Amino acid sequence: MSSAARSPSAEAIAVLQERELRTFAGAHPRAAELMQQSERYWQGGVPFHWMRDWPMPYPVFVRSAVGATLHDVDDYAYDDFCLGDTGAMFGHSPPAVARALTRQAAQGLTAMLPGERVAAIGAALSARFGLPCWQMTQTATDANRSVLRLARALTARSEILVFDGCYHGTVDETLVCLVDGQARARAGLRGPPGDAAAHTRVIEFNDLAALAAALADGQVAAVLCEPALTNMGMVLPQPGFHAELRRLTRQHGTLLIIDETHTFSAGPGGCTRRDGLEPDLFVCGKAIAGGMPCAVYGMTAALRTRIEAMPANAEHGHSGLGTTLSANLLALAAIEACLTEVMTDAAFAHMEAQAIRLEQGLHSLLAKRALPWHVQRIGARVELGFGAAPARNGRESAAAMLPELERTLHLYLLNRGVLLTPFHNMMLLSPQTAPGAVDRLLTHLEAALDELAR
Ligand SMILES: Cc1ncc(COP(=O)(O)O)c(C=O)c1O
Repeated sequence: MSSAARSPSAEAIAVLQERELRTFAGAHPRAAELMQQSERYWQGGVPFHWMRDWPMPYPVFVRSAVGATLHDVDDYAYDDFCLGDTGAMFGHSPPAVARALTRQAAQGLTAMLPGERVAAIGAALSARFGLPCWQMTQTATDANRSVLRLARALTARSEILVFDGCYHGTVDETLVCLVDGQARARAGLRGPPGDAAAHTRVIEFNDLAALAAALADGQVAAVLCEPALTNMGMVLPQPGFHAELRRLTRQHGTLLIIDETHTFSAGPGGCTRRDGLEPDLFVCGKAIAGGMPCAVYGMTAALRTRIEAMPANAEHGHSGLGTTLSANLLALAAIEACLTEVMTDAAFAHMEAQAIRLEQGLHSLLAKRALPWHVQRIGARVELGFGAAPARNGRESAAAMLPELERTLHLYLLNRGVLLTPFHNMMLLSPQTAPGAVDRLLTHLEAALDELAR
């Protein structure tokens, strides 16, 4: 029997969704009022358009977010498993970061000069992730754009390679997908300067034969890759994938960029440290400074030497790298507090323990109901997939998605005080997530499945 046949029927999903939408509207009068007011001033009614990408007709408006709990203006509390889609992976407003920000806020926000603690911060990054040399940016998008630019400059090659189903931020040449074996700009991409896929090769994740073929002509500057795909469901690497990726990139003079922005959930040094990956360039953003806009990229000693040997740029400020507020004093204060006091081994141990509790609970739930779905996990990051088996690549993962079911379940959970990331079935566990929150998620999910089965 196919997975679709045993998953809830479209009719049951539609009925439940309709009822949950009514429940939401009835329960959030203040959010409705604020939405009406903000519609006048903001495009799409919100200061950033992704804020409308939730399963509700209008978003909940945040009153406060502390630890693993978010409170909204209608006086509801939510167990937050979205955590700002990873930016708040270490909990909302970690006290050490809040203290550091308060201290720094009175002593300068931005100066385009290094703060006195930068050596210690660099040392902490190196100790954690293993790369010896660093730069800071405002976002992971900025960091990815920077490392791709550096890779092209260093190799004098224009091509890059990414995996189908990837997401690395709003970097034009990575907003591509695989259609009939060809790289194509994503349909939703607005206003690229030309064909965004013109210099990008796209292959399926875990396809080593395609990788060997794509690198063979020696024209690819860099492979940009997450250790596992986390933006198209969750697709884990097959045994030997990373070792061969590393071998092939070295063989063809292609730089390997590992983007750990999401997979940092794997442990204190991300997958890079856990799995002994050996990137030439490394990117991490989102949670790295506890939710403050901040990202880092790291490089090997060999690359540092080559970058520093590049001809000094005659036109200062026109390298295409960086933004004025990068590495500002506030971001430096936040990242130091996070590196030294928040992202501790103990914090990761708690996060992973709760993630395992959730993973096991989901497994039992699926088994009890004979649902042909699966669960994947990278450390503190758990994903429920609607395919019978874990996907091996982006295409399989996309094919297994059931967007209306996902939307309905998220809405049902939200109406009962459980917040899940809108774009995927991802659940993130923070150092403050209590076992009770995990149990509540499981209880409400079971109730939703009960209703859908009727
Ligand atoms: C793997 C990965 N890299 C980079 C980014 C971009 O992060 P930001 O939107 O903070 O720039 C994302 C965002 O989801 C991501 O998932």
